[in-house]
Amino acid sequence: MALLIKNGTIVTADWQTKADIYCEGEQITRIGKDLDAPPDATVIDASGKYVFPGFIDPHVHVYLPFMGTFAKDDYISASKAALVGGTTTLIEMICQGRDSRALTDGFEFWMSQAVGKSACDFTFHQSVTRYDAEVEADLKEIVKAGVASFKVFLAYKGAFGITDEELYHTLRLAKQLGVIVTAHCENADLVLELQKQLLSEGKTGPEYHYWSRPPRVEAEGVHHLLSFAELTGAHTYIVHTSCEEALNEALAGKARGLNVWVETLIQYLVLDKSYAELPNFEGAKYVMSPPLRDKKNQEVFWNALRQGFVATVATDHAPFDFKGQKEMGRNDFTKIPNGIPSLEDRVNLLYTYGVTTGRLDLHTFVDCASTQAAKIFGLFPRKGTIAVGSDADLVVYDPNYRGTISAKTHSLNLDYSAFEGWEIKGRPSVVTVRGEVAVRDGQFVGRIGHGQFLKREPTHF
Ligand code: URP
Ligand code: ZN
Ligand code: ZN
Repeated sequence: MALLIKNGTIVTADWQTKADIYCEGEQITRIGKDLDAPPDATVIDASGKYVFPGFIDPHVHVYLPFMGTFAKDDYISASKAALVGGTTTLIEMICQGRDSRALTDGFEFWMSQAVGKSACDFTFHQSVTRYDAEVEADLKEIVKAGVASFKVFLAYKGAFGITDEELYHTLRLAKQLGVIVTAHCENADLVLELQKQLLSEGKTGPEYHYWSRPPRVEAEGVHHLLSFAELTGAHTYIVHTSCEEALNEALAGKARGLNVWVETLIQYLVLDKSYAELPNFEGAKYVMSPPLRDKKNQEVFWNALRQGFVATVATDHAPFDFKGQKEMGRNDFTKIPNGIPSLEDRVNLLYTYGVTTGRLDLHTFVDCASTQAAKIFGLFPRKGTIAVGSDADLVVYDPNYRGTISAKTHSLNLDYSAFEGWEIKGRPSVVTVRGEVAVRDGQFVGRIGHGQFLKREPTHF
């Protein structure tokens, strides 16, 4: 069925105009003034509202076996939450353990979690958690199946973490295949030693998580990765960059000509380490890795986004209930499942604390929450922009909406919100995925199973 979005202010990463958007089938077919539509078309009046390209979250965990438990969402709850929050495409990390079965089995398993359940479009980053001839053959198969990015963990020794030898071979293969390697950069040995030291001193509360992973641990991880990237020529993407020290290492890599992109998270832009210091174990809600940082880092990252030094704002959505899951670490912070969920809130928080405060203009907002991810990960211009021929993934955004975030009303399958009671100024009122309306008046009205796996071609040679 046809869809006509009338009278909105269309905003992409590089232009803005007041016009109508007409969509037939799954794509945008016309953009212009006073467009007509057949009588049976769905017509949406976007007067007084922005129309943005569907937002893309390039770093999400849905199915995640981690730290002795499993993340709480499945593709039904996660995709509903994503869509209500304006995210029409998510990229999930396939995180099979180091000792798991063949990578191709893992890929098929993760795919089976999403197909038929997801209401939004999705694709994957394939984790490499060990390296041998069988893994290499499997990775080639997975790339042929349409996954054009890998993920490596320098942290989480014994679980997802890889050795330097494995890192070298992964980056060499990635370069050969034209695949970008996304990387969690923290020095695993330093983390383990610092954890042991803190626990031996009786420092067991959530506030000590930070001290087991101080900025230098992350900066060393970035420096380490980029030395390997330089020697292999691989293109890399630093996930969840949290502090100035780590950012400076990435910028030094850029300055010497490396193809490296930087992701930060909405959590690091709006939360700081004092949240993880909240009394009565409340701080556990704010334990993630790398940890929340000193507040002074926030302005560094807003500036870096404005300057284009940081490409994307993601969520690293990794949801664990407070009751029963975060509580596993009541007597030992190293056992608190890491993660601060924010899939539903990323876009509204970025708009509220970025755009309405004047820190970001509308184009940078669209760029870092949608367009850059599409470009880096081989989805552009199908996704990440509003153009004739692009998928009709559109967000009609109401800048006059006022509301508050709460676990009582969110779509996530989770017993708390890290942003409980926070005000938001603006929200998606209508969201479409390939021409189908998935959200109206802020409520999910979409179709479970409508989401498609997005095959991607390697572009990072
Ligand atoms: O704390 C985090 N980041 N949890 C999810 C796993 C990861 O490191 O991405
Ligand atoms: Zn990570
Ligand atoms: Zn992650």
